[in-house]
Amino acid sequence: MDKPKVVLGVSGGIAAYKAAELLRRFTESGHEVRVVPTASALHFVGAATWSALSGNPVSTEVWDDVHEVPHVRIGQHADLVVVAPATADLLAKAAHGLADDLLTNTLLTARCPVVFAPAMHTEMWEHPATQENVATLRRRGAVVIEPAVGRLTGVDTGKGRFPDPAEIFELCRRVLARGVTAPDLAGRHVVVSAGGTREPLDPVRFLGNRSSGKQGYALARTAAARGARVTLVSANAALPAPAGVDVVPVGTAVELREAVLAALPDADAVVMAAAVADFRPASYATGKIKKKDGQEPEPLALVRNPDILAEISADRPRPGQVVVGFAAETDDVLANGRAKLKRKGCDLLVVNEVGERKTFGAEENEAVVLGADGTETPVPRGPKEVLAETVWDLVARRLV
Ligand SMILES: Cc1cc2nc3c(=O)[nH]c(=O)nc-3n(C[C@H](O)[C@H](O)[C@H](O)COP(=O)(O)O)c2cc1C
Repeated sequence: MDKPKVVLGVSGGIAAYKAAELLRRFTESGHEVRVVPTASALHFVGAATWSALSGNPVSTEVWDDVHEVPHVRIGQHADLVVVAPATADLLAKAAHGLADDLLTNTLLTARCPVVFAPAMHTEMWEHPATQENVATLRRRGAVVIEPAVGRLTGVDTGKGRFPDPAEIFELCRRVLARGVTAPDLAGRHVVVSAGGTREPLDPVRFLGNRSSGKQGYALARTAAARGARVTLVSANAALPAPAGVDVVPVGTAVELREAVLAALPDADAVVMAAAVADFRPASYATGKIKKKDGQEPEPLALVRNPDILAEISADRPRPGQVVVGFAAETDDVLANGRAKLKRKGCDLLVVNEVGERKTFGAEENEAVVLGADGTETPVPRGPKEVLAETVWDLVARRLV
């Protein structure tokens, strides 16, 4: 089989050096990569690096090797174009269809999926001109990854950081595997909760659960690769932030509720994959609870946590919002799932069997997705990403 052909566009941002790692990941996993830097990008990383690492010639202008008509051929033959980093300037040119160098020509001739990974200072990213350009590119079917929040060039910190190249590579692999040029969640905002809440007893102890967050992170990662803007409300998950996903860290069920409600008003869909504690300790000891000689411990009094899934199913801030819940059951899995779907009032409920060695922390999952319309979609044992893709297929069909 031919190697998948990837065009790696590199524009003139300080993060250009990180694109060398992205390039390595593509070549080492069997992709044929043609690097097309802009002239500005070569101020940061020279042509020799791109050429040696890709094993292919490198030019910035349309005037080299004209007999091969590179300004048309490179884009026409690509299976994926990824521009990483994408400068504010490059996004503006792409949004307006300018074609004054080899990369911008390639973007106009490509008919394959296109991914942009913007990186710039927060002010440049937040400027209405950039935001409108990003919206235009997304509307036309490009996947524009949200930049990460963190250290920028110099001493500044904020949104605009180039995401982890390993995570960009994961997203690109997914986009390439789907092969569609019109991602079905483009222009949508989805909220995903992941992980397990911890309900503190005292400064050192908590009531928690075994959820690792892997299923929720798989949902966030796959939604981003399908073009969605993703808010991931993450409860105590020790996992790397997926590229293009806004992560909101939370600890307790009450914090998770607040973060989900804050993200909800403009969300098209919400998937509640986090394991949220039903109960929390009735009181919190500000100092560590000590053993007392000759005394049994006090019984632990619990109070109910808010039922977030039922609340957001009943009270949707946006008409047509799709609400998905998860039910982790240990026995009578399907019967309990059907009852829970009715009780909660959500549109879809992903029902899976859990136990000490099942599902929690595992790389694989097996589930049945129940629909309020009576549909039942079984998902056989497989990577958590496969279940995530099925959930988004079912969500996409229900979006208006
Ligand atoms: C040190 C330095 C760092 C820069 N970093 C960025 C950046 O991270 N993102 C960005 O959009 N522009 C950045 N710029 C500005 C771009 O290089 C400039 O807009 C250039 O015209 C982009 O050209 P290109 O889009 O053709 O690559 C930087 C400029 C300098 C001098």
